Amino acid sequence: MSADKFYVTTPIYYVNDKPHIGHAYTTILADVLARYHRLKSVPTYFLTGTDEHGQKVQAAAEKAGMTPQQQADGTVVRFKELWERLEITNNDFIRTTEDRHKLVVQKILQDLYDRGEIYRAEYDGWYCVGCERYFTEKDLVEGNCPEPGCGRQVDRISESNYFFRMSNYQDWLIEYIQDNPTFIQPDFRRNETLGFLRKGLNDLCISRPKSRMSWGIDLPFDDDYVTYVWFDALVNYISAVGYLADDEMFAKWWPTSCHLIGKDILTTHTVYWPTMLKAMGVPMPESVFAHGWWLVGRDKMSKTTGNVVNPMEMVDRYGVDPFRYFLMAEMSLGQDASFTEEAFVRRYNADLANDLGNILSRVVKLIHANCGGKVPQPGEFGPDEKLLSETALAAAGKAMEQVESMRIDLGLASLAGVVREANRYLERREPWKVAKQGSPEELATILYCCAETLRIVSGMVYPVMPGKMAELRACLGLQEEEPAFGDLLEWGKLTPGSAVGKLRPLFPRIKQEASAQEKPTKAKAKQKTTEGVAQIEFTDFERVELRTATILEAERIEGADKLLKLQIDLGCEKRQIVAGIAKFYDPEILVGKNIVVVANLKPAKIRGVESNGMLLAASAGKALKLVSVDGDEVAPGARVG
Ligand code: ME8
Ligand code: MG
Repeated sequence: MSADKFYVTTPIYYVNDKPHIGHAYTTILADVLARYHRLKSVPTYFLTGTDEHGQKVQAAAEKAGMTPQQQADGTVVRFKELWERLEITNNDFIRTTEDRHKLVVQKILQDLYDRGEIYRAEYDGWYCVGCERYFTEKDLVEGNCPEPGCGRQVDRISESNYFFRMSNYQDWLIEYIQDNPTFIQPDFRRNETLGFLRKGLNDLCISRPKSRMSWGIDLPFDDDYVTYVWFDALVNYISAVGYLADDEMFAKWWPTSCHLIGKDILTTHTVYWPTMLKAMGVPMPESVFAHGWWLVGRDKMSKTTGNVVNPMEMVDRYGVDPFRYFLMAEMSLGQDASFTEEAFVRRYNADLANDLGNILSRVVKLIHANCGGKVPQPGEFGPDEKLLSETALAAAGKAMEQVESMRIDLGLASLAGVVREANRYLERREPWKVAKQGSPEELATILYCCAETLRIVSGMVYPVMPGKMAELRACLGLQEEEPAFGDLLEWGKLTPGSAVGKLRPLFPRIKQEASAQEKPTKAKAKQKTTEGVAQIEFTDFERVELRTATILEAERIEGADKLLKLQIDLGCEKRQIVAGIAKFYDPEILVGKNIVVVANLKPAKIRGVESNGMLLAASAGKALKLVSVDGDEVAPGARVG
């Protein structure tokens, strides 16, 4: 991403229904990136909006007995309310029914038509009403719509339509994607698009006869037709920043730094959109990033199943910031992730209530009780303090790199690691005892170091939890609510003498009521599979945190001929584990292997050697083989499950 400006977009969402957690996710992600760049003083523009034309909206309106415009006007409010509630800081909100957008779409169409990029032809083929897409015979899967997740019956149609000469750009686009490896991210999505392109690109039908679907933007050169919804929707990314209307604004923001999208709309953004821009003579977006899918447990969210997660309800129950934090921490960008309320509560209690909330309240209480409610002047820093400060600064630096390489989950994990480290430091130094034994300088040093660590962590986490982190920072006596990012890479910026506030608990612990689903019932416990192993609930499985890891070092343990001591890279941290695999693997050949480990196993000492986790291996008879991850697309630390 170029450093002189940051222009980020979300998809514009259909107004056929109210927003759900998937929409909330992409928008929060864009917001975190926008806030992050603003704090780094990078001029930032953040665009979101709604996609209001087309079949989906028309059908929803018919069902509700309204006009499509009424349907759109009613639903857009739900999106706007949600963004306000989620503290989204978008600079603009574009609706495709606005004149400023429609006029630009029409100008583009007319220009492309005049230049022969759009032509009229008879179309004979198949059409899916749900996807609003035309398909050829060979596209169909078992005679039905080939779109993933659709599979509907398609209609045979024969009609006159307008086409965009997309096929002309096939070779150019393949070359462009190959020459610009950061254009489509993550890497495996680039390969997906290249695979699609190599199968051969057809021209794109960009019109819909009004007789079949009239809710759209009129073709300027034939008013029996409206524009295909995607040829209209994609244009929002440029119409909102002044294309053909405000040259100065357009030059300032375009090309976008990043189009954030879900994996469902990869083809439209990495094939249709670049070829449209090419034909218009507009520069390419810097990047298109496709994230994975939120599942509910293991299932796809769907109205028919009735498992759609309403973000408003989650926020009402648990607050905005914890919700934002969970979504950012739980999903490895690019991969799918699973949402359950149990997982939410577990992470909230662990990271926020137990770790972050706990250290803050201890430090603040001790400062009030012993230091007159002011940030104390620290004394000499010893090795323990140096370790803590180095850990905090390293994690802050690493978190910045991780945010910029779209590994927000790992960035947050690094910061959660610092908070745990600070809690361990506190346990070791026992300031409550120091206070009683009367060594004020030592006490001051301990409390200062913890508060200073919290200053750094809260600054880094600020884009994810702006409200709570502002509270935390005010409590530490920091004057400015918003952190200056430069200060987060330096130790000692907290000013002794500043007044420490009174604290309401930031993250009160949530009592975890076992949900009906989670409660083991006698009948269930008795259920056995054919192999005689009791069946478990998905939520039981979910408690096991399986992650990928790379083996960095391996050595034998003296006096234990079955054991090896391994140093592994878990993405956000390095760890040591002990594994009983010495009889099956020589240490040398293990280095560099990508394995799977149980990452949340309680630490244990095995033959006096500390082990923090357990690797997975399959054994049968005398053989044992490590469970490993093939390929190197998945970085260490990725969730397995
Ligand atoms: O596709 N998990 O709009 P849309 C994660 N109007 N993200 C999800 C999700 C899930 N389960 N479900 C939806 C459209 N999303 C078009 C876009 S852009 C020019 C036009 C998010 O309302 C994700 O960002 O169907 C996905 O791409 C988007 O919502 C689709 O929203
Ligand atoms: Mg959709």
